Amino acid sequence: MKIALYPGTFDPVTNGHIDIIKRASRLIDKVIVGVLHNPAKKPFFTVQERIDLLKAVTSNMENVEVDSFSGLLVDYVKQRKIDVIIRGLRAVSDFEYEFQMALMNRKLNPEVETFFMMTSTEYSYLSSSIVKEVFQHNGCIDGLVPDVVIKAMEKNNYKII
Ligand code: PNS
Repeated sequence: MKIALYPGTFDPVTNGHIDIIKRASRLIDKVIVGVLHNPAKKPFFTVQERIDLLKAVTSNMENVEVDSFSGLLVDYVKQRKIDVIIRGLRAVSDFEYEFQMALMNRKLNPEVETFFMMTSTEYSYLSSSIVKEVFQHNGCIDGLVPDVVIKAMEKNNYKII
Protein backbone atom coordinates (compact mmCIF):
# COMPACT_ATOMS: atom_id res chain seq x y z
CA MET A 1 0.00 0.00 0.00
CA LYS A 2 1.42 3.36 -1.07
CA ILE A 3 0.85 6.37 1.16
CA ALA A 4 1.20 9.95 -0.06
CA LEU A 5 1.43 13.15 1.94
CA TYR A 6 -0.03 16.35 0.56
CA PRO A 7 1.42 18.96 2.93
CA GLY A 8 0.60 22.62 3.17
CA THR A 9 -0.65 25.56 5.15
CA PHE A 10 -4.22 25.37 3.79
CA ASP A 11 -5.21 28.77 5.19
CA PRO A 12 -7.80 28.16 3.82
CA VAL A 13 -8.20 25.12 1.56
CA THR A 14 -9.06 26.25 -1.98
CA ASN A 15 -10.71 24.49 -4.90
CA GLY A 16 -7.21 24.17 -6.38
CA HIS A 17 -6.09 22.11 -3.35
CA ILE A 18 -9.22 19.97 -3.55
CA ASP A 19 -8.57 19.29 -7.24
CA ILE A 20 -5.07 17.98 -6.40
CA ILE A 21 -6.34 15.87 -3.46
CA LYS A 22 -9.08 14.34 -5.63
CA ARG A 23 -6.73 13.50 -8.49
CA ALA A 24 -4.03 12.11 -6.16
CA SER A 25 -6.54 9.98 -4.28
CA ARG A 26 -7.50 8.24 -7.53
CA LEU A 27 -3.88 7.18 -8.11
CA ILE A 28 -2.58 6.45 -4.62
CA ASP A 29 -3.87 4.04 -1.99
CA LYS A 30 -3.98 6.59 0.79
CA VAL A 31 -3.51 10.37 0.83
CA ILE A 32 -2.75 12.16 4.07
CA VAL A 33 -3.42 15.88 3.91
CA GLY A 34 -0.92 17.36 6.37
CA VAL A 35 -1.61 20.81 7.79
CA LEU A 36 1.57 22.51 8.97
CA HIS A 37 1.34 23.82 12.51
CA ASN A 38 3.65 26.81 12.41
CA PRO A 39 3.49 28.92 15.59
CA ALA A 40 5.64 31.62 13.91
CA LYS A 41 2.85 32.46 11.44
CA LYS A 42 -0.36 34.33 12.21
CA PRO A 43 -2.94 32.42 10.21
CA PHE A 44 -6.51 33.39 9.39
CA PHE A 45 -7.77 30.01 10.61
CA THR A 46 -6.43 27.98 13.54
CA VAL A 47 -4.95 24.57 12.75
CA GLN A 48 -8.08 22.91 14.15
CA GLU A 49 -10.35 25.09 11.98
CA ARG A 50 -8.26 24.26 8.91
CA ILE A 51 -8.41 20.55 9.75
CA ASP A 52 -12.18 20.69 10.24
CA LEU A 53 -12.66 22.44 6.89
CA LEU A 54 -10.40 19.96 5.11
CA LYS A 55 -12.29 17.06 6.71
CA ALA A 56 -15.60 18.55 5.62
CA VAL A 57 -14.53 18.95 1.99
CA THR A 58 -12.87 15.52 1.72
CA SER A 59 -15.54 13.54 3.58
CA ASN A 60 -16.59 11.89 0.30
CA MET A 61 -13.04 10.64 -0.39
CA GLU A 62 -12.62 7.38 1.50
CA ASN A 63 -8.85 7.09 1.22
CA VAL A 64 -8.10 10.65 2.36
CA GLU A 65 -7.06 11.42 5.93
CA VAL A 66 -6.48 14.87 7.40
CA ASP A 67 -3.80 15.40 10.03
CA SER A 68 -1.45 18.11 11.25
CA PHE A 69 2.28 18.13 11.79
CA SER A 70 4.91 20.43 13.21
CA GLY A 71 8.66 20.55 12.77
CA LEU A 72 10.38 19.02 9.78
CA LEU A 73 8.32 17.47 7.03
CA VAL A 74 10.81 14.60 6.64
CA ASP A 75 10.37 13.64 10.31
CA TYR A 76 6.61 13.38 9.86
CA VAL A 77 7.14 11.41 6.65
CA LYS A 78 9.29 8.91 8.54
CA GLN A 79 6.94 8.70 11.50
CA ARG A 80 3.89 7.98 9.29
CA LYS A 81 5.81 5.69 6.88
CA ILE A 82 4.88 7.90 3.92
CA ASP A 83 6.15 6.86 0.47
CA VAL A 84 5.81 10.09 -1.45
CA ILE A 85 5.20 13.81 -0.98
CA ILE A 86 2.79 15.45 -3.40
CA ARG A 87 2.93 19.12 -4.33
CA GLY A 88 0.88 21.05 -6.84
CA LEU A 89 2.52 23.27 -9.44
CA ARG A 90 0.64 26.24 -10.85
CA ALA A 91 3.07 28.39 -12.79
CA VAL A 92 6.78 28.59 -13.48
CA SER A 93 7.00 30.93 -10.50
CA ASP A 94 6.21 28.00 -8.17
CA PHE A 95 9.08 25.96 -9.52
CA GLU A 96 12.00 27.61 -7.78
CA TYR A 97 10.55 27.28 -4.28
CA GLU A 98 9.31 23.75 -4.91
CA PHE A 99 12.64 22.69 -6.39
CA GLN A 100 14.48 24.02 -3.35
CA MET A 101 12.08 22.32 -0.95
CA ALA A 102 12.16 18.97 -2.75
CA LEU A 103 15.96 18.95 -2.84
CA MET A 104 16.27 19.99 0.79
CA ASN A 105 13.85 17.25 1.81
CA ARG A 106 15.87 14.74 -0.19
CA LYS A 107 19.09 15.96 1.41
CA LEU A 108 17.53 15.47 4.85
CA ASN A 109 16.23 12.05 3.88
CA PRO A 110 17.52 10.58 0.59
CA GLU A 111 14.61 8.13 0.51
CA VAL A 112 12.00 10.87 0.32
CA GLU A 113 10.54 11.36 -3.15
CA THR A 114 8.41 14.32 -4.25
CA PHE A 115 5.83 14.07 -7.03
CA PHE A 116 4.52 17.21 -8.68
CA MET A 117 1.06 17.50 -10.11
CA MET A 118 0.11 20.25 -12.54
CA THR A 119 -2.86 22.32 -11.49
CA SER A 120 -6.01 22.23 -13.56
CA THR A 121 -6.02 25.35 -15.73
CA GLU A 122 -9.06 26.90 -14.06
CA TYR A 123 -7.17 27.04 -10.75
CA SER A 124 -3.78 28.09 -12.05
CA TYR A 125 -4.05 31.63 -10.63
CA LEU A 126 -5.53 30.56 -7.31
CA SER A 127 -3.83 30.71 -3.90
CA SER A 128 -5.04 30.89 -0.30
CA SER A 129 -3.41 34.34 0.02
CA ILE A 130 -5.16 35.85 -3.00
CA VAL A 131 -8.50 34.43 -1.84
CA LYS A 132 -8.02 36.06 1.59
CA GLU A 133 -7.02 39.36 0.03
CA VAL A 134 -10.06 39.49 -2.25
CA PHE A 135 -12.33 38.45 0.63
CA GLN A 136 -10.92 41.16 2.93
CA HIS A 137 -11.84 43.77 0.34
CA ASN A 138 -15.33 42.35 -0.08
CA GLY A 139 -14.62 40.82 -3.48
CA CYS A 140 -16.50 37.76 -4.69
CA ILE A 141 -14.74 34.45 -3.94
CA ASP A 142 -17.54 32.19 -5.20
CA GLY A 143 -16.14 29.18 -7.06
CA LEU A 144 -12.63 29.67 -5.66
CA VAL A 145 -13.20 27.95 -2.32
CA PRO A 146 -16.00 25.61 -1.21
CA ASP A 147 -19.15 27.19 0.28
CA VAL A 148 -18.31 25.80 3.72
CA VAL A 149 -15.04 27.77 3.60
CA ILE A 150 -16.84 30.98 2.55
CA LYS A 151 -19.19 30.58 5.54
CA ALA A 152 -16.24 30.02 7.90
CA MET A 153 -14.47 33.07 6.46
CA GLU A 154 -17.56 35.20 7.02
CA LYS A 155 -17.58 34.03 10.66
CA ASN A 156 -13.88 34.92 11.04
CA ASN A 157 -14.35 38.24 9.31
CA TYR A 158 -13.25 40.25 12.34
CA LYS A 159 -9.68 38.97 11.93
CA ILE A 160 -7.10 41.15 10.24
CA ILE A 161 -4.61 39.28 8.14
O1 PNS B 1 1.15 25.51 1.48
P1 PNS B 1 2.58 25.89 1.68
O2 PNS B 1 2.67 27.01 2.68
O3 PNS B 1 3.27 26.21 0.38
O4 PNS B 1 3.33 24.60 2.32
C1 PNS B 1 4.68 24.65 2.69
C2 PNS B 1 5.09 23.43 3.52
C3 PNS B 1 4.17 23.25 4.71
C4 PNS B 1 5.01 22.19 2.67
C5 PNS B 1 6.57 23.65 3.97
O5 PNS B 1 6.68 24.92 4.55
C6 PNS B 1 7.07 22.61 4.96
O6 PNS B 1 7.23 21.46 4.63
N1 PNS B 1 7.32 23.04 6.20
C7 PNS B 1 7.79 22.15 7.26
C8 PNS B 1 9.20 22.51 7.71
C9 PNS B 1 10.25 21.84 6.85
O7 PNS B 1 10.33 20.63 6.78
N2 PNS B 1 11.09 22.66 6.19
C10 PNS B 1 12.18 22.14 5.38
C11 PNS B 1 11.75 21.78 3.98
S1 PNS B 1 12.14 23.07 2.91
